[in-house]
Amino acid sequence: MKDTVIMGIETSCDETSVAIVKGGKKLLSNIIASQMEIHKSYGGVVPEIASRKHMELIMIVCQEALDKAGLSLNNIDGIAVVPGPGLKGSLLVGLSFGKAIAFASEKPLIGVNHIEGHIFANFLNSQDIGFPFISLVVSGGHTSLIIVHNFCQFEVIGRTRDDAAGEILDKIAKYLGLGYPGGPIIEKLAVCGKEDAIYFPRPLLNSNDFDFSFSGLKTAVINYLIDKNKAQQKVNINDLCASFQKAIIDTIKYKTIAAAEKYNISRIVLGGGVIANETLKKELIEYARNVNISVYCPPKELCTDNAAMIAVAGFYKLKAGITDSFDLDVYTR
Ligand code: KG4
Ligand code: ZN
Repeated sequence: MKDTVIMGIETSCDETSVAIVKGGKKLLSNIIASQMEIHKSYGGVVPEIASRKHMELIMIVCQEALDKAGLSLNNIDGIAVVPGPGLKGSLLVGLSFGKAIAFASEKPLIGVNHIEGHIFANFLNSQDIGFPFISLVVSGGHTSLIIVHNFCQFEVIGRTRDDAAGEILDKIAKYLGLGYPGGPIIEKLAVCGKEDAIYFPRPLLNSNDFDFSFSGLKTAVINYLIDKNKAQQKVNINDLCASFQKAIIDTIKYKTIAAAEKYNISRIVLGGGVIANETLKKELIEYARNVNISVYCPPKELCTDNAAMIAVAGFYKLKAGITDSFDLDVYTR
């Protein structure tokens, strides 16, 4: 399998991406066409526009990925596609395109759950991470803690009951008129702010499970802004961003380490767009080090959506003999 070449296709949200990975480790190409500039003016992803853009871009991106890898379709051993979760129209474009290529080239079709992809982004270019491990996936759609027993066996031990962490970063940035996506903008503003300037709640920190809930924190920030506005008091935006970001980080950090300790698992594997946040990463790594837990994290460009992570996960599924038939359908959640 060390020379097996997988093409990954990712269109679950607003990135059209095709990547080619050899032997599950060597990245030959990873082309990402972001639609961010288009959706920015709406303050979030517009599903109808996203799927149309995927349709316009997917052929071009796929050809570019092949060219950059110096390969043709004949050299590809399997096509990894994302049936979900994500936006239905967007998923349909990538899935249909992947099926068409797999059919025409008579190569196996491998369905990869988007969250699986975020987790296995860590296996690219790196040494193998031993099983089991706890994976923390934090993105615009998910805040989940998952015990990964092997490449095919996942046990979800916690998830958000309402908004995801990335979702409230995006929503608060939109409320403040700061732009989209909110996470990196808030991170930048937080650098010059004081994280203990304003106290915001750390939701469900003392619940006896590993679920998250972020909508109350979002409401607390909005209420703070409303109160300040009513009192005609100025808001220090840097302090607000730093304090808000810190509330998210603390919640995620304490719950993740508590989960690792409860299940007696000493490896934590990170994934998802919010993991691109330097402060979150640093705090998690430091806190874990104190209790002898190792933290693995993909490089920044592989935290946010990309097809390389889909190709890697597809490689290991194919290795385990898992492929999909052409009736594979999309799912949104
Ligand atoms: O994984 P991803 O690219 O797409 C989904 O699967 O949702 O994650 C996107 C999310 C957005 O909410 C975005 O604001 C957040 O990741 N994000 C960040 C950073 N970069 C992206 N959040 C905090 N800090 C960042 N540097
Ligand atoms: Zn994602």
